[in-house]
Amino acid sequence: MSVPDVRQAVAGLFDRSSETYDSVGVESFTVIARQLLADVGLVRGERVLDVGCGRGAVLFAAAEQVGETGSVTGIDLAPGMIDRTVCDIPDRGLTNVQALLMDAQEPDLPTADFDTVLASAVLFFLPDPLAGLRAWHRLLKPGGRLGVTTFGGNDPRWAEVEEVFRPFVPPEMIWAIVDPAGLFASVRNFERAAASVGFVDASSVVRKHPITFADPDQWIRWSWSHGHRIFWELVPGERQHEVHTQVSAALDRQCPPNGPKIGQPGGPGPVPAVPRPTGTRQECLFLY
Ligand SMILES: C[S@@+](CC[C@H](N)C(=O)[O-])C[C@H]1O[C@@H](n2cnc3c(N)ncnc32)[C@H](O)[C@@H]1O
Repeated sequence: MSVPDVRQAVAGLFDRSSETYDSVGVESFTVIARQLLADVGLVRGERVLDVGCGRGAVLFAAAEQVGETGSVTGIDLAPGMIDRTVCDIPDRGLTNVQALLMDAQEPDLPTADFDTVLASAVLFFLPDPLAGLRAWHRLLKPGGRLGVTTFGGNDPRWAEVEEVFRPFVPPEMIWAIVDPAGLFASVRNFERAAASVGFVDASSVVRKHPITFADPDQWIRWSWSHGHRIFWELVPGERQHEVHTQVSAALDRQCPPNGPKIGQPGGPGPVPAVPRPTGTRQECLFLY
């Protein structure tokens, strides 16, 4: 796929996800965002850029933290994400936030204009993540900070669900994260990549975020509401019902009806599968 094709495909995927993104009753991206912000520790009055802002998991919490003397700009490539997030701004009574339709890899923003750049669960969607890191470095004031989260490896308990989708996934669709030499394969690789574009003093934290699902249907609704949706969309219409049933059955086997809830401590507790949105490790990178 060419770079414009990848961008268009990602934008389309998240455009279609935007209606239910982060709003199916499952605490996932907001938990990661909250932790990222706690680790970064924004200061009142800061100018913040939230790259790939989605529905505002980072954006809105950051706006509260920097206060009225600060400002937060969110950018995202998916029109549905931006339109919905823009609508939410007045509802939240915030006057220090804007959300703009813009490519994170080539942001059309002034050089050295931000104190902090944040990107939660975004970098691995860029066709050239290194180019993105380079661009974000340019946007930071001297001494500015970058806070990034990525997803870690797969939880083996999801293997059965992944197997259901496997026949529909084209072989070339391999995420950078599974490449052992790739940018996201380890904290070390990631920090090296960031250093190569000029960031210094990296600090990374690996965390697990277990999520609880009420039942298989809630997991399925949730998986349609974010990047995992791509796997459902690869399934032809006439096979959707069959795949839905197989996924449900695989989840039920992990967690029988009268047993503990999916993901609940004490139960077998599956956590999400590729593209590994939560329940896996979270890497935060803070660069000063
Ligand atoms: C998993 S969501 C994360 C959203 C938000 N940061 C959060 O934590 O909930 C990934 C977001 O990155 C956006 N995105 C992907 N590629 C992008 C690009 N090249 N430029 C801007 N946004 C992009 C998607 O549209 C989507 O909203």
